[in-house]
Amino acid sequence: MTSIAILLSGRGSNMVALADRCASGDIDAEIAFVASDKTDAPGLERARHLGLRTVVLPYREKGQATAESLLSDMADDEGIDWIVLAGFMRLLSPAFVNGRRGRIVNIHPSLLPAFPGVNAIGQAWDYGVTVTGVTVHLVDEKMDHGPILAQEALTIKAGEGLDDLEERIHALEHRLYGDTLKRLFRSRLTVEGRRIVFE
Ligand code: GAR
Repeated sequence: MTSIAILLSGRGSNMVALADRCASGDIDAEIAFVASDKTDAPGLERARHLGLRTVVLPYREKGQATAESLLSDMADDEGIDWIVLAGFMRLLSPAFVNGRRGRIVNIHPSLLPAFPGVNAIGQAWDYGVTVTGVTVHLVDEKMDHGPILAQEALTIKAGEGLDDLEERIHALEHRLYGDTLKRLFRSRLTVEGRRIVFE
């Protein structure tokens, strides 16, 4: 079975959606631990409620290099196959990414390359787009940038407010991330430049 570690910084709704699908056996993976750069991330509490092991990475107290080295050691010791970013709002260092290239995945609430970074849904809203969506991608050294595994578009409805849009984007994320990881864990991947071929 595939072993994963989930990293988050916030409320953890994507983590919960993935944990539900792993627990039901729909996704053939086991969550070894849930880690955060924030001691008070609500997602950590939600993970504990689900009976998952949680870890706080000491970014604030000891800096990025120490936090990443702790994460790397844990991932090695526990035979983690994939690192799954679910609202982890920090850039991983080139050294970390290089050591696990093609085995770190991220979800972002826009159709990349549009609107990378924080508050992507608000950025798209403020720009006035009529179509937005969700992207799941492999992680590289740049923010919200690596080769794309899956994208799904969503058309903004006439008269729709930002709150409703956010709700629909998150519902889409919860489905698309699980569907993509399920497929990923069953497949062999070849990365050809920026294009990914599933076998
Ligand atoms: C999600 O919308 C995720 O796509 C986004 O953070 C949110 C976390 O929500 N990630 C990024 O913006 C990455 N650049 P959650 O904590 O409820 O899963």
